[in-house]
Amino acid sequence: MCREQQAGSRCDNKRSEFAPQTEERFAAQGAEIRKDFPIFNIPGENSGQIVYLDNAATSQKPHCVIEAERKFYERENANPLRGLYSLAEEATREYEEARKTVADFIGADDSSEIIFTRNATEGLNLAAYCLTELLLKEGDEIAVSIMEHHSNLLPWQQAARHAGASLKFIECDKNGVITDEAFEAAISEKTKILAMTHISNVLGCKNDLKKYSDFCRDRGIILVADGAQSVPHIPVNVKELGVDFLSFSGHKMFGPMGIGVLYGRKSLLEQMPPFLCGGEMIESVTRESAVYAQIPHKFEAGTVNAAGAAALAEAVRYIKKTGFDTIQERERCLTEFAMKRMKQIPGVNIIGSPDAALHNGIISFTLEGVHPHDTASILDADRIGVRAGHHCAQPLLAHLGIPSCTRVSLAFYNTCEEIELFADSLSQIRRKMGYGE
Ligand SMILES: Cc1ncc(COP(=O)(O)O)c(C=O)c1O
Repeated sequence: MCREQQAGSRCDNKRSEFAPQTEERFAAQGAEIRKDFPIFNIPGENSGQIVYLDNAATSQKPHCVIEAERKFYERENANPLRGLYSLAEEATREYEEARKTVADFIGADDSSEIIFTRNATEGLNLAAYCLTELLLKEGDEIAVSIMEHHSNLLPWQQAARHAGASLKFIECDKNGVITDEAFEAAISEKTKILAMTHISNVLGCKNDLKKYSDFCRDRGIILVADGAQSVPHIPVNVKELGVDFLSFSGHKMFGPMGIGVLYGRKSLLEQMPPFLCGGEMIESVTRESAVYAQIPHKFEAGTVNAAGAAALAEAVRYIKKTGFDTIQERERCLTEFAMKRMKQIPGVNIIGSPDAALHNGIISFTLEGVHPHDTASILDADRIGVRAGHHCAQPLLAHLGIPSCTRVSLAFYNTCEEIELFADSLSQIRRKMGYGE
């Protein structure tokens, strides 16, 4: 429970309406959290001036994560899984410990179900490629939601092309709601795979993966989930969700770039052929053929990113130490506050649900008469970082009838003060662009 809840407050933290004591506590908690992040504490004249509201693109890194990566290179650096000398064994131990930490974090049965990848995109490509090889045939169907990031769409377009299968789209309404009718309309006897995001990177809405996995299990459909926007912000348990695959990126969950995770159900991973082939993924090799290593190493060809894995494990420990109760509560309060302020600004049109509770920290919007790139550039002049464009979800934007939009995405280290700076800057943009009040 967050401090505000403990104090019995509503998280309606517009400064003037927020109980002063509660507002003070929220601010103090934020200030304490921000001490962990070097980027918010750069000494000199720019200190404290970064208003970073692009957390869905990548998150900032706490000091302990940066240190963990440095420690690996300073004290443990050797090629893991190869050398028999003690330094290489230490590197291997660190790498495999990281795998256990991640497995435990997402509730996997066994650490062999955790494959380290470069990012969420690579994990989704791995799943699509290997499942195509394993089971996809001509005439089969793959169901994908219309709100997928390109990373969970293009691999399935390729898969369909290679197998002679076809893609079926699950439509959503303008708030991101997928009705049972819309879902069932995209499913048939021929459906072999369902690819679905947990949280949309544009609408912020959350899909009920548990409901879909129950449906899929009964019909032998494999569910591949994209956890890139959920794993950093809400507790995710692959067993409880019942998904067959879940892919996510380290860099969006306060870990480093260049490391990601694909969880896969053991029975499927064991049957799947490898994705990349080369060193460290074999038992033995002859001139003509090879016997592949056991999972997970079958899917980790070449030298691995052990320093990244060690730092990702540290990010997991950091999240656990902070606690999802604190993370979720802060992000919920900040989202409510931001939406409330944005709704007061003439010309702002929020994309997706009007209910802040359904946005999971992601608020996309347009500003009447202003191109989203101009909105982002003008905000940047006030040192506020937001994302503008199609957000790698062009089919969704086409479905919603907007070519592009601006996105604010929050993390637990953001503050009400930052939201106010953002809202003040946003409220000036139309006037700066020559529109009247
Ligand atoms: C929902 C979703 N899936 C996948 C990705 C791809 O992540 P990465 O670029 O780390 O592979 C993103 C990145 O923004 C995303 O938001």
